[in-house]
Amino acid sequence: MKNNSVITLVTGGNRGMGLAIAKALAASGQKVIIGSRNLDKGKSAVEKLAADGLKVDVIQLDVTDSDSVTAAAQELMEKYGYLTTLINNAGSVFDFRIEPSQISQELIRKDFEVNYFGLIDVTQKMLPLLKKAPQAKIINISSMMGSKTEALNPQSEVYKAVAVGYQSAKAAANMFTVQLAKEMTRNNLPITVNAIDPGMVATEFGGATPEQAREMGAKSIDVGITRTVALATDFENKDNATFTNISGPVAW
Ligand SMILES: NC(=O)c1ccc[n+]([C@@H]2O[C@H](COP(=O)([O-])OP(=O)(O)OC[C@H]3O[C@@H](n4cnc5c(N)ncnc54)[C@H](OP(=O)(O)O)[C@@H]3O)[C@@H](O)[C@H]2O)c1
Repeated sequence: MKNNSVITLVTGGNRGMGLAIAKALAASGQKVIIGSRNLDKGKSAVEKLAADGLKVDVIQLDVTDSDSVTAAAQELMEKYGYLTTLINNAGSVFDFRIEPSQISQELIRKDFEVNYFGLIDVTQKMLPLLKKAPQAKIINISSMMGSKTEALNPQSEVYKAVAVGYQSAKAAANMFTVQLAKEMTRNNLPITVNAIDPGMVATEFGGATPEQAREMGAKSIDVGITRTVALATDFENKDNATFTNISGPVAW
């Protein structure tokens, strides 16, 4: 498959890593559409990319709003007819540093709405478009925070982190990744499904400023998107049901 016939949708593409992924893939020659829950924010992101000479499209897409996801899938089908790559990047954390014994159901549900149910809703509704491409891939932006092995590893950078709602939602999204990958394989569909850990990256994630994140050891956005961009531009499309970061496999 040639790069210029690739059509990629990046959810949460109006800022942070989503925007940087969109920029890198558009620069590589792919047709890129960013999903943005606030269309105006999405439009200004697209304008910034246009100033750099990159033509990227935008679509309104709130992953927690079923009607928004349905409308986006319909619009994409009408405008483009297929999708080659879905990058489930939209994500949010609502529960940093709250003890598991104290966290409210409300916060856990918020974590799951975006990072798990939203990801599943977008994936299910975009699958008809992905099935229309000769080969396709789904990349789920997960996190090492969702790894139970790393949560139990005293040497791990996430050992001391406590965000049980977010971590559980990412762990659940990892299992969805594995099960969907197996379903695609069982049905002989040329669609791969993989999860990525970008590492700790200096964005506005969790309400911190990129500067604050950097002080805590976060890496640059360029480093954070490296593995995702590598997977999104791999036309052999061999990796399936993997969980990786820039250094290789991550323990589930
Ligand atoms: N930064 C890190 O250290 C880190 C580490 C591991 C994994 N991750 C994961 O990487 C992904 C990108 O994070 P980031 O660091 O780039 O964070 P970010 O700068 O906070 O960007 C998050 C993006 O997700 C969007 N979003 C949030 N809720 C949404 C919803 N309901 N529907 C659609 N879009 C929604 C945001 O849109 P608005 O602008 O409208 O809020 C924004 O575009 C997330 O999945 C995150 O969990 C991040």
